[in-house]
Amino acid sequence: MDMRRRLIAGNWKMNGDRESLAELDGIAAAAKAAPDVDVVICPPFTLIERAVARQPSLIIGGQDCHSGISGPYTGCISAGMLKEAGATLAIVGHSERRAAQHETDPEVKGKAEAAIAAGLAAIVCVGESEAERDAGKAAERVETQLRGSLPVAGGDALVVAYEPIWAVGTGRTPSMQDIGAVHGLIRGVLRELLGAERAEAIRILYGGSITAANIAEVLDVPNVDGVLVGGASLTAAAFAPIIEAAA
Ligand code: PGA
Repeated sequence: MDMRRRLIAGNWKMNGDRESLAELDGIAAAAKAAPDVDVVICPPFTLIERAVARQPSLIIGGQDCHSGISGPYTGCISAGMLKEAGATLAIVGHSERRAAQHETDPEVKGKAEAAIAAGLAAIVCVGESEAERDAGKAAERVETQLRGSLPVAGGDALVVAYEPIWAVGTGRTPSMQDIGAVHGLIRGVLRELLGAERAEAIRILYGGSITAANIAEVLDVPNVDGVLVGGASLTAAAFAPIIEAAA
């Protein structure tokens, strides 16, 4: 009995231009053929409005948002601005932002709260570094990030993504046992923080070097409800087979 719809999310990061939006046509066609799967694309902010206009059947999201509503925050985008552009979701706490923008757990929590308050779904990312995994501290790190970054509100608008930093963009992935262990741990922490019923409704994604070649075995792992995909979401040729595998 699985009440959680699968969620396949693509994060374009700082890639793509207007021409790349043509990729959305093939991605939307794959999504249409997989009606039980939620398909998300998070393009750069500047393409959100066009992406929504081109393929309204896709879920279009932002890659980050600010925790505030408005104010003197040069270069930042609020959740309300994303919503106005037509986005219905925001990724927050991606490891690339935690590293390069020095985002802390409380900041990520504030962003997730702002997204949910604006009516967006929030994908909250957590994941250990390679040094932490090697030191046997992956579980501890993920649990600390979860406790610090998760908003208490949000219902099933809240999504968690487990993305081991060393697996992002590297072509390396953890073993299926290791993914299962961390996803099981995340489900347990969700139960404790949010109660059993809510915890069951929240989708937990795996992210890090997902391709058409490894998607099937990853989706087979207990408590993996979908994936967050970087490189392999940039073209329909790479992303459509991932959507098809989830159908
Ligand atoms: P990748 O990126 O699929 O290119 O490893 C994953 C992510 O950063 O979400």
